[in-house]
Amino acid sequence: MIPYKHEPFTDFSVKENKKAFEEGLQTVESYLGQDYPLIIGGERVITEEKIVSYNPGKKNEVVGRVSKANQDIAEKAMQVADEAFKTWRKVKPEIRADILFRAAAIVRRRKHEFSALLVKEAGKPWNEADADTAEAIDFLEYYGREMLALKDGKKVESRPGEYNRYDYIPLGVGVVISPWNFAFAIMAGTAVAALVAGNTVLLKPASTTPVVAAKFVEVMEEAGLPKGVLNYIPGSGKEVGDYLVDHQRTRFISFTGSRDVGTRIYERAAKVQPGQVWLKRVIAEMGGKDTMVVDQDADLELAAQSIVKSAFGFSGQKCSACSRAVVVENVYDQVLDRVVELTKELSLGETTTPETFMGPVIDQAAFDKITSYIEIGKEEGRLVAGGEGDSSKGYFIKPTVFADLHPNSRLMQEEIFGPVVGFTKAKDFDHAIEVANDTDYGLTGAVITNNRMNQEKAREDFHVGNLYFNRGCTGAIVGYQPFGGFDMSGTDSKAGGPDYLTLHMQAKTTSEML
Ligand code: NAD
Ligand code: ALA
Repeated sequence: MIPYKHEPFTDFSVKENKKAFEEGLQTVESYLGQDYPLIIGGERVITEEKIVSYNPGKKNEVVGRVSKANQDIAEKAMQVADEAFKTWRKVKPEIRADILFRAAAIVRRRKHEFSALLVKEAGKPWNEADADTAEAIDFLEYYGREMLALKDGKKVESRPGEYNRYDYIPLGVGVVISPWNFAFAIMAGTAVAALVAGNTVLLKPASTTPVVAAKFVEVMEEAGLPKGVLNYIPGSGKEVGDYLVDHQRTRFISFTGSRDVGTRIYERAAKVQPGQVWLKRVIAEMGGKDTMVVDQDADLELAAQSIVKSAFGFSGQKCSACSRAVVVENVYDQVLDRVVELTKELSLGETTTPETFMGPVIDQAAFDKITSYIEIGKEEGRLVAGGEGDSSKGYFIKPTVFADLHPNSRLMQEEIFGPVVGFTKAKDFDHAIEVANDTDYGLTGAVITNNRMNQEKAREDFHVGNLYFNRGCTGAIVGYQPFGGFDMSGTDSKAGGPDYLTLHMQAKTTSEML
């Protein structure tokens, strides 16, 4: 087995790569507006009611029309997944892993097509779409290998005359509920982690990005996944989501999304339903209010570049995005001025070429929410860049910077999930860490400093699941920077890390007298 190595990103300054991506866009354009059925037990199920997926950068462009599950269909899918579990759980881990490796190879061959679909369906700039697809490939390659590493369990001691084993067995039917912002990587990663561990899955993707999920389910079929193991059931979060979360046959839920929905799922899953004979497991990875701290002894150009990239990459629509910059007072003006300068240089528009840095936000609801926060920001702080939006053709919001915010202001406390970053001045480094920690969340953070002692202080005291030094706070790589947050950012499952698969399994001890 070749050791795991992450999928390289595409350099679009190379003419051939740009051309290959354009061909991917053409492929996607050839199937825009198509209908997609639900997939339950391998059967194609077409419903009257549809979820329509639009290009957020070009509102009148329909990416696809997807059949929509309701509670009756969700019930059927649950029965199918429950039945399929009886055989899938006995399939050897090596075979399960091989299906992931084959799927990775198929996606790699169609890499630019998948990324082009993300450009259309999620409004991603080319580089962000390319990274999303690369991450999906990484999850397939990494979790396949992780399963192989766990196939014989873990070592325990045995006394003379005794043979003890510690093995992992799957849990049962998992409900996988994914967000739109890493419409490929998180959707695929959470689904295949559950599958490779021997569980069967009901996949409910986000309603704004169901087409990429449909295409991925087809890839898994092509890779050899037996019918009923992965069931594709897009539908309303409230209707289908609540029904499946409450279901007595649901063994675990793997959710990635907002804090409101995550806490709702956590609470509902805790209730033991009539006939339920287990306690449901919940993996819930939720929002962030991620802070970059800039020390006085720091590379200030690096600080400004990193803040801008982390705040505005994919229009700030990453759980890891920098939405707060906390800067020590004697370098505050310098960093802020440079961030404003760099922000004003960013290009915004439909992401039809690799040169466009920032595309749209995902939909009208996001546009309205973000622009309402911009209005709040004008009351709470000083608008120094951006602050305007235009939703006439697509949902475009200028990259926006607010200065001089109070650490307790709404802009510095609430997840906006858009291209808005707020600046706060700190008296010194200790104060900066105190401000950085003062949120309900604890997902990512970064510290820009040349002071080794301050760096070590942050390592101990900056309370986030993913902490970065002298770089931005986005862009965790599978297998290199396992990803997951503290506090109200979630259950700290650390996707893409060595503990992730075991969350989808239970350990069984067997002890034999020799
Ligand atoms: P969301 O919570 O609105 O939706 C996520 C998923 O939950 C969707 O599939 C949605 O249909 C479903 N859902 C909605 N109501 C439901 C219910 N009652 N029961 C079950 N499922 C339900 O989130 P979103 O807008 O898709 O994604 C953005 C959010 O996700 C942000 O808060 C972001 O920070 C977070 N996020 C976190 C991570 C992470 O790893 N921590 C990664 C990506 C995104
Ligand atoms: N894995 C994504 C990042 O680190 C969310 O930016």
